[in-house]
Amino acid sequence: MVMSKFAAIILAAGKGTRMKSSLPKVLHEIAARPMMNYVVANVSRLDPEKIVVVTAPKMEDVKAAVLHENKDVKFAVQKKQLGTGDAVKAGISEVKNKTDIIVLYGDTPFISTETIDAMLRELKGEHEPAVVVLGFVPENPAEYGRLVINNMGELEEIVEYKDANIKQRSIEICNSGVMAISGDLAAELLSEINNKNAKKEFYLTDVVKIARAKGYNCRAMQCDEAEVMGINSKFELAIAENILQARLRAAALELGASMTMPDSVQFSFDTVLGDNVTIEPYVVIGKNVKIDDGSRIRSFSYLEDAWVGKNAIVGPYARLRPGTKLEDGAHIGNFVEVKNSKIGKGAKVNHLSYVGDAEVGKDANIGAGTITCNYDGKKKHKTIIGEGAFIGSNTSLVAPVKIGEKAVIGAGSTIIKDVKKGAKVINKMPQVEIKK
Ligand code: UD1
Ligand code: MG
Repeated sequence: MVMSKFAAIILAAGKGTRMKSSLPKVLHEIAARPMMNYVVANVSRLDPEKIVVVTAPKMEDVKAAVLHENKDVKFAVQKKQLGTGDAVKAGISEVKNKTDIIVLYGDTPFISTETIDAMLRELKGEHEPAVVVLGFVPENPAEYGRLVINNMGELEEIVEYKDANIKQRSIEICNSGVMAISGDLAAELLSEINNKNAKKEFYLTDVVKIARAKGYNCRAMQCDEAEVMGINSKFELAIAENILQARLRAAALELGASMTMPDSVQFSFDTVLGDNVTIEPYVVIGKNVKIDDGSRIRSFSYLEDAWVGKNAIVGPYARLRPGTKLEDGAHIGNFVEVKNSKIGKGAKVNHLSYVGDAEVGKDANIGAGTITCNYDGKKKHKTIIGEGAFIGSNTSLVAPVKIGEKAVIGAGSTIIKDVKKGAKVINKMPQVEIKK
């Protein structure tokens, strides 16, 4: 790991118009995490002195999403989007003088900790460069800036596509945008950038020729295209999602999870699986889900912000909503929705039920079609079901209500009062045969 102090400046002021979305580009999620937060997390592993995110004015939501995961990040506002050079200048105002900097993009989420580390090492390496630039050879070089490297292996210049001549446009190695700049020179080099170019923007890339003109060395490094893929459209976002899902599935299989159709299973970046978990085809696992040893998630289930204990069974066609806790051996069956509820050890809710804001005791059996009526139109209320209770099919439990241990509720009841421990209760209209 890099030993010297450095600061990261992450550019995120772009409008992202090609996303065709009212959400700022960098907040679009990949595997249920804002893309921006991958960059922050990967660089923070190297323990930077500071991470500064550069936003446009009125991007409070970007700030909130970043701080949600990392409270130490600082923010700088670039008043007008005058170009990448101007954005870095805005960011550097938050950084202590003479600190080495690494520039990253908030819309390039797959940049790895190792590559950032390697660039910072190169900056301190034998060539003592003023600037280190990360290049790559894209399948389609399109309008990327081109790296002009001389036969000594030194980086001479970065030429933006719009300013490049035909010969320069034929260069295969392109600028990823990731750049490390020596702290001793950063402020000076940045201050000399102008906007005399095809786009009339302050190009960060100009620091290379500015450094060269002052007699400093500059270097280029190279990485795979996949690592520096930028996300500019919903199409690219979908490609990125696929790449990450493939990695998450591979990691789950490596851990010993069983999946007969891994390609149909969707994970989140923070999904935690125990040993010997089985995930059947077509399961969606949202944010903050932990599934413990030996549990099975059956097909077409949707889980979000939920904990599944050991040897539990969920689904097929189950929905676990935020705040669900299933203790060991619990069974949640088909067309059952559970929200903000704890289902005790070995308890069963096997068919067509809604359990919301409830505590279900150990070994309780909740019959088909049971509904906790938790909402009175204004407030949510709690249902407590004791250990070993038996709730007959098609029961409505009107909360707040408590069902005692081992109580038995007859099918079709509407329970509006607490039921004592061991009581047998039935509440329904008498069956009437209508005579003609
Ligand atoms: C930039 C590089 C180009 C490189 C390409 C890689 C420059 C001049 N060009 O071009 O060499 O091949 O990235 O993708 O640097 N941003 C701001 N404020 C601004 C302008 C941009 O924060 O005023 C942010 C954007 O949100 C984005 C990043 O900087 O995350 C890059 O900006 P973009 O406009 O996409 O640069 P490119 O023209 O693609
Ligand atoms: Mg771009």
